[in-house]
Amino acid sequence: MQQEVKNYNLIARALHWVSAIVVITMFAVGLWMVDLSYYSEWYRTAPHWHKSIGILFAALTLFRLTWKVVTASPKVEGKAIEKLAAKAVHGMMYLVLFTLFISGYLISTEDGRGIDVFSLFTIPALGALFENQADISGEIHFYAAWALIIMASVHALAAIKHHVIDKDNTLRKMIGVSK
Ligand code: HEM
Repeated sequence: MQQEVKNYNLIARALHWVSAIVVITMFAVGLWMVDLSYYSEWYRTAPHWHKSIGILFAALTLFRLTWKVVTASPKVEGKAIEKLAAKAVHGMMYLVLFTLFISGYLISTEDGRGIDVFSLFTIPALGALFENQADISGEIHFYAAWALIIMASVHALAAIKHHVIDKDNTLRKMIGVSK
């Protein structure tokens, strides 16, 4: 049985806010880089960074989920329906994040080349596992990215609504200043 806490712990908060910045930045970079011309100086660099950060972010998210399981989280506030919606959206955001990691891996590795992470180490490729792997995974990656950004926007608006209208501790507990 985990103890009752008022705030998310420091590590959980840091992981949340770093994840939020990564999600928004990766989405913007992803949209921008697919339209780069071969002659752009970013043509190779932007995908290299996007993939490298994606791999590190997958590891960070696995750690985040483990941390969530082994440490205590504060209770979600609001009406029963709001609590249900909040928990469903949190769960779906984790699910969509893993959809993004797996589809991203499948796009990159169909040709048998591993993913070089900032020239530090390489995640091995499994090659083509099914027909049209890169195309199908690319579609999934695109729609999953949009789904995540839409969910995150609704989620952020809900957090602001709790803070401004309900004046409860929802946002404060993710900053560490619950009353
Ligand atoms: C942009 C990408 C974002 C993602 C992927 C994201 C994801 C999540 C997830 C998965 C949780 C559940 C935490 C857990 O128990 O593990 C959470 C909680 C929370 N997030 Fe976000 N978030 C994002 C952005 C934001 C923004 C911009 C805000 C504020 C304006 C925000 C405010 C909060 C708050 C207040 C909670 C605590 C909710 C509660 O326990 O009732 N998030 N977030």
